[in-house]
Amino acid sequence: MSKSVYIKTYGCQMNEHDTQRMFGMLAPMDFISVNDPEEADLILLNTCSVRANPENKVYSFLGALRPLKERKPGLIIGVAGCVAQQVGKSLLKRAPHVDFVLGPDNLFRLPEFVEDASHGKRGCYTDWQTWEGSVSEFVPEVWQEQGRVEGLRGYIAITKGCNNYCSYCIVPHTRGREVSRSPEGILREARSMIKNGAKEIWLLGQNVNSYQVGEDYGFYELLDELSHLEGLLRLRFTSPHPRDWNDRLSDLMAARPVLCNYVHLPFQAGSDTILMVMRRKHSIADYLRKIDYLRRVIPTVEISTDLIVGFPGETDEDFTCTLQVLEEVRFSQVFPFKYSVRPGTRAESLEDDVPRKVKEERLAQVISLQESINKKAQDDLVGSQQTVLLEDTNKRKEGFYNGRTDGFRAITVAGDGLSIGALVHVCVTGCKGHWLHAEKL
Ligand code: SAH
Ligand code: SF4
Ligand code: F3S
Repeated sequence: MSKSVYIKTYGCQMNEHDTQRMFGMLAPMDFISVNDPEEADLILLNTCSVRANPENKVYSFLGALRPLKERKPGLIIGVAGCVAQQVGKSLLKRAPHVDFVLGPDNLFRLPEFVEDASHGKRGCYTDWQTWEGSVSEFVPEVWQEQGRVEGLRGYIAITKGCNNYCSYCIVPHTRGREVSRSPEGILREARSMIKNGAKEIWLLGQNVNSYQVGEDYGFYELLDELSHLEGLLRLRFTSPHPRDWNDRLSDLMAARPVLCNYVHLPFQAGSDTILMVMRRKHSIADYLRKIDYLRRVIPTVEISTDLIVGFPGETDEDFTCTLQVLEEVRFSQVFPFKYSVRPGTRAESLEDDVPRKVKEERLAQVISLQESINKKAQDDLVGSQQTVLLEDTNKRKEGFYNGRTDGFRAITVAGDGLSIGALVHVCVTGCKGHWLHAEKL
């Protein structure tokens, strides 16, 4: 008899991807996915601890599950992801209704832990693994057999962990040292995804462009090889680190149509003083010079970014530098965050001295400036020609299709002979909110 699983996912695309892997591992155990925790025999929380906010959400959801477990004693509850790795065993004490705590490095043993939990065994599995040989390929292999492609998109984790230790960031502590997967494994997975219907592949890594296997095979070589795969219409990646971005990568992006003209390149702060304390290991001038070259070789490239407001010591002048970078680069999308102290990071020892109200004001300023920049950018796109991968039908307007431009803008397209999965040339006719409207050429 089949059993049901509900997975709640927080955090980044890597976590979304891990959730897909979990489904892939549970399917052979006859688990089917349900959308309501009340109906589930197994509930998994795939958690994020990058800021206090997502971490707190995990605890409140866990609290809400307590009465459910009391009503259904056979229910299994597992906490996976970055909060699991960060707090470990203490979570079993704090939440007696949790059956197991599973760090990202032990994800591939999920079936074993679910089985143990069904026999009443509680446990915390947060030891670090080496991601070599069978371990590196095992999880994706299971996933491949299930042919898991989300719509037309397939995600491939090419590295795990991060060696950067930016002073504010918990990720290196929850995901461990950086390890790059073998190119053979990645290519095999990519081919299998294309066979299963993927038209667009995203390469994932905390610092995706520090991918390196041996002396001569790095991110450039991997992109170069993947860009020749037959049947692949689009190749994207996230997130690259500015320090590891170079002009050769910009040139490759310009030369290969399959490599989308879109980069998410977090700059975090506009002031060199702050960047130094953040340990980002580059200056704002380095960042702007790299963007300048990229724009020179691909004038229509779209760039998005992350930034933090209210990092310890951030003065009004420092913050003004952040606004200046927004004005200068004119990003297509900005993800701004209020600084939040994370346990175990270097910045934990710095006084969190920017008052909450000031952080909020700065965040609001960033959002408002970005809105006006984007409004103008959207208006400027009206009349331009774009290529669009049609990903879905428009539920509100019959005969219309939704997709993304090469630069990752959401767009809805009208015209004859359209079908999901087609890459079409369009002319932008207007925009509403964050959506562009277009007609097939
Ligand atoms: N690996 C990616 C991003 C990781 S976390 C990268 O390096 O680009 C996503 C974003 O969360 C970061 O880019 C940063 O802007 C933000 N972030 C990370 N730690 C934070 C903290 N302690 N407080 C506020 N924002 C944080
Ligand atoms: Fe965190 Fe920095 Fe690594 Fe990104 S590069 S995951 S911000 S330590
Ligand atoms: Fe969050 Fe972990 Fe991703 S902390 S952002 S889920 S790597």
